[in-house]
Amino acid sequence: MSDESLESGWSFDTLQVHAGAFPDPATRARAVPIFATTSYVYESVDTAAASFLLEDLTVNSYSRTGNPTTAAAERRIAALEGGVGAVAVASGQAATTLALLNIVRAGDHVVLSGQVYGGTTSLVTQRFPELGIEHTIVTDIDDPEAWRAAIRPNTRAFFAESIANPLARVLDIETVARVAHDDAGVPLIIDNTLATPYLLRPIDFGADIVVHSTTKFLTGHGTVLGGVVVDSGAFDFGAEPAKWPGLHSVDPGHGEIGYWERFHGQGLGYLLRLRSLLLRDYGPTLSAFNSFLLIQGIETLSLRLRQHVANTERIVRYLESHPQVELVNHPLAAGHPSAGLAAKYLPKGAGSVFSFNLVGGLEAGKAFIGGVKLFSHLANIGDVRSLVIHPASTTNSSQTPEQRAATGIGEGLIRLSVGIEDADDLIADLERGFAAARAVRP
Ligand SMILES: Cc1ncc(COP(=O)(O)O)c(C=O)c1O
Repeated sequence: MSDESLESGWSFDTLQVHAGAFPDPATRARAVPIFATTSYVYESVDTAAASFLLEDLTVNSYSRTGNPTTAAAERRIAALEGGVGAVAVASGQAATTLALLNIVRAGDHVVLSGQVYGGTTSLVTQRFPELGIEHTIVTDIDDPEAWRAAIRPNTRAFFAESIANPLARVLDIETVARVAHDDAGVPLIIDNTLATPYLLRPIDFGADIVVHSTTKFLTGHGTVLGGVVVDSGAFDFGAEPAKWPGLHSVDPGHGEIGYWERFHGQGLGYLLRLRSLLLRDYGPTLSAFNSFLLIQGIETLSLRLRQHVANTERIVRYLESHPQVELVNHPLAAGHPSAGLAAKYLPKGAGSVFSFNLVGGLEAGKAFIGGVKLFSHLANIGDVRSLVIHPASTTNSSQTPEQRAATGIGEGLIRLSVGIEDADDLIADLERGFAAARAVRP
């Protein structure tokens, strides 16, 4: 049974099973029930009024902005990431969008890592300009000067991933957080999808806000989409109020002072605005059923991750010694540019999503995919099942070979998301792929 006074002393394995969940007071149900309800009957006219004015935050009102099943998932993820709270949303893409739009608006500027998920790049470089939001992409993410040089007077956020795929590049979170704070006076938002809080807690290293696609390892079974925004509560949006008009201006109907002044004492200045305005008005709500599956997934997170990283280590070693492999893009592999950062930030393992360059280019890559039977060919990651994709013929096929090469995507690059099956079975399957690739080599 969760008890917040005990939670601070619990280890990760205990928190992932218990944090934020209580036996249902009405039914005594032990597992978190699926509250399949759109709305909740107010106890009184006064309770209803207090709820609408945000004077009583404990009242359930309408499931677009809050649901008890989802709330349990939010409390649990906040506990695992070391945040003051969290807001769950319908997808990882929605989490990134809302995390940024809560603090950036027309005329503002975002500094974006060049090593992020393609959907994040298209959000910031294609959709945000339509809203008048500017950006600069940092290509050399290891160079603090490159981050510093990207700052403009109107910069309002830094955004990066803890581990980025397919090259498995690791961010020096402490250094980039220092530049964001000291040189730009803005928060660092980290997409921690590939690491999960079991392998890395970005807040411990100075990140201010963490987002996840819970679609991946947190739910873990390739079943439903979801996303979450976690706030560390550490960034002081009150230090320069003029930079954050959204947090400091008055929202009609919600009192006479801004969200920051009203709620930051409870650690909720950033998150309550995100929930009460952005989730309310844009509407990407996570369903209670998906929250239930998310909770089920989180309860075995560390067990799954231990198997994901153990299998990955076996497969990286196998690939490194394979004659048909030119390069393995995982921090465990010899010469990987993030080996040192992975040793510092990811001592339990640098994740299980990575890539390798297959000898033979485009045709060999396609044949490899056709040859494997146990690995599923699809465009997802972070499933208990092992997954594979050939970016040059799928996710990156609209680019020219030169454009792909500029981002490290070779014609024969194969991305793996290693699952929790038996490592020997997985290696035997990869061998089928290599045999198929050999058959088409010139
Ligand atoms: C690192 C990362 N962040 C965010 C997303 C977007 O998440 P979703 O597909 O849940 O919207 C993805 C999706 O692949 C991802 O890989």
